[in-house]
Amino acid sequence: MTDDGEPDLEARLVEQETFEPPASFVEQANVADESIYEEFEEDWPHAWTQAADMLDWDSAYSEVLDESEGPFYEWFADGTLNASYNCVDRHVENGDKNRAAIQWEGEHGETRTYTYQDLYREVNEFAAALRDLGVEEDDVVTLYMPMVPELPIAMLACARIGAPHSVVFAGFSADALATRMNAADSRYLITCDGYYRRGEPLDHLQKANDGLSSVEHGVDATVVVDRLGEDGFGHDLKGNQHDWDGLVEAHQSARVEPVERNAEDMLFLMYTSGTTGQPKGVKHTTGGYLAYTTWTSHAVLDLEPEDTYWCSADIGWITGHSYIVYGPLSLGTTTVMYEGTPDFPERDRLWELVEKYAVDVFYTAPTAVRAFMKWGSQFPERHDLSSLRLLGTVGEPINPRAWKWYYKHIGNEECPIVDTWWQTETGGMMITTLPGINTMKPGSAGPPLPGIDARVVDATGEEIEAGHAGYLTVSRPWPGMLRTLYQNDERFIEEYWNEYSDPDADRWVYFPEDGAKIDDDGYITILGRVDDVLNVSGHRLGTMEIESAIVGVEGVAEAAVVGGDHEVTGEAVYAYVILEDGYEGTGEMHDAIVEGVNEAIGPIAKPERVIFTPELPKTRSGKIMRRLLEEIANGEELGDTTTLRNPDIVEDIQVKVQD
Ligand code: WTA
Repeated sequence: MTDDGEPDLEARLVEQETFEPPASFVEQANVADESIYEEFEEDWPHAWTQAADMLDWDSAYSEVLDESEGPFYEWFADGTLNASYNCVDRHVENGDKNRAAIQWEGEHGETRTYTYQDLYREVNEFAAALRDLGVEEDDVVTLYMPMVPELPIAMLACARIGAPHSVVFAGFSADALATRMNAADSRYLITCDGYYRRGEPLDHLQKANDGLSSVEHGVDATVVVDRLGEDGFGHDLKGNQHDWDGLVEAHQSARVEPVERNAEDMLFLMYTSGTTGQPKGVKHTTGGYLAYTTWTSHAVLDLEPEDTYWCSADIGWITGHSYIVYGPLSLGTTTVMYEGTPDFPERDRLWELVEKYAVDVFYTAPTAVRAFMKWGSQFPERHDLSSLRLLGTVGEPINPRAWKWYYKHIGNEECPIVDTWWQTETGGMMITTLPGINTMKPGSAGPPLPGIDARVVDATGEEIEAGHAGYLTVSRPWPGMLRTLYQNDERFIEEYWNEYSDPDADRWVYFPEDGAKIDDDGYITILGRVDDVLNVSGHRLGTMEIESAIVGVEGVAEAAVVGGDHEVTGEAVYAYVILEDGYEGTGEMHDAIVEGVNEAIGPIAKPERVIFTPELPKTRSGKIMRRLLEEIANGEELGDTTTLRNPDIVEDIQVKVQD
């Protein structure tokens, strides 16, 4: 941050090298003609029919984009379709019923293969079960599940009957589940008895039940998947709790006609962190979202139906929604799902799976690449990775050193890498190279995709010169964009459209809250969030959410949370805490704070460091100087402290952090 509180983006710039896509890749690429950029420019928004045409519509749309109510844009608005039909039925009808849709691998090495026919059967049976439980079109169904095949099956069953799903990451706490169910007024929960982590069964149902007890409006029905069998924790199912297998058995051979949904009807909700304590309910629609994820899976991930594709994200995040479930299944590809962690039982687990399933395309997070790099190249070297054709990353900037390690040790210098910038809100990829066309520059995501009008501007909204840092903006709508925040149009405008739009001129500019720079070739390098959102292992966490969890702990008076640099996770949570009189910064207090965060949010948000201090550095107007707290966390030289009300405290805190 600079002294006026603005983030100092120039300080985050990096230098670049270039790599060309290998000829062997270009020859077979789905998109290899660079005229696609011009085509989208000249024929915008009509060119987006390319994406919509990849879907099967029940009734055709007459208009591509309705801009009349910006920023509440509508895409393919009067068309109707069903996402479950597009991801399942059409492949069965097209003669691909015996192709694997999902290859699932449990942590213990059990495997389950679902062909498209299997998926068709399971989705239908579960859709019939949901209907019987009383789920109606437009009811929000919450899915609080780990990486088991029943998760995508439940998503597709919801889509089939037109009930939007709201998936809550299984690593989130009971409180986080309750907050999301309350916010979405969701009366149905699909969950799981537990799952395995590093060989140990985890009790997930206990967490789910704890969450359920705080759901204000009560819950009509819960469905529980039995993942652990004999390793289970022996919870009895309560009155309105049903066993998944029993339900499905009771609906054996049932068929449910896919509901005709309007393109603009909600497909799902996904809660994500923002700058306030309250997560935002991002709303995605059936037509635009599915068209966009299908098209980007084809153009960027280069997926073909014959491919075996693996995205190692969790379906609990947007990456898994778009690029494990909807995009790949819509294309009729085989998608791999893995339950466990990359280092169990050994650090070569992912490479073992790449070899075993002969994975063609692999998509992961930079934090994972940095961990692989730290563990060493001997692990991938144990396996034949020659099936790989393309690699990708998502979730945070990838530093050039990690990029090059990935390129060499995983891709054998034969696979292009797509560094894809996007967000929960954008639905799908926005800024990345097209792997069959563009030169790659490690560290830089690349140019905006065809049809995406991303620009880097200064604080006044003026486009800035190449090489200088500024703010990323998107000046034109795109089909995969969020439509609003659930039942909160006002906050939608406030969060994303207030900064650079000119409502009087009906000019709407989307602000994703990322810093960026652009180079002479139009390549965009993302410099990180400019709001109070941290990116820990590619997961978005609001500092406000963590701070309110900490001040909820008995004895805490005030807390300030910032991100410190971390070799593997990218950022780590640093919590500076002021205690109430009579409390001391003991080991117990430390543990209570860490546990408080664990309970309110989940283990991903746990502070790496808790620093007790009698005061926080504040400006004369009383604002906490977060810039200083960040610099202290990173052991950097401190900027100007003369504007502080209490400059002496800084050195005090510095000493504590260095201890
Ligand atoms: C960051 C994840 C740099 C960015 C799909 C964004 C990235 C936030 C990249 C969204 C990338 C995502 N390079 N930064 N390739 N991809 N980000 O909503 O700060 O979990 O705003 O969506 O992650 O995180 P979200």
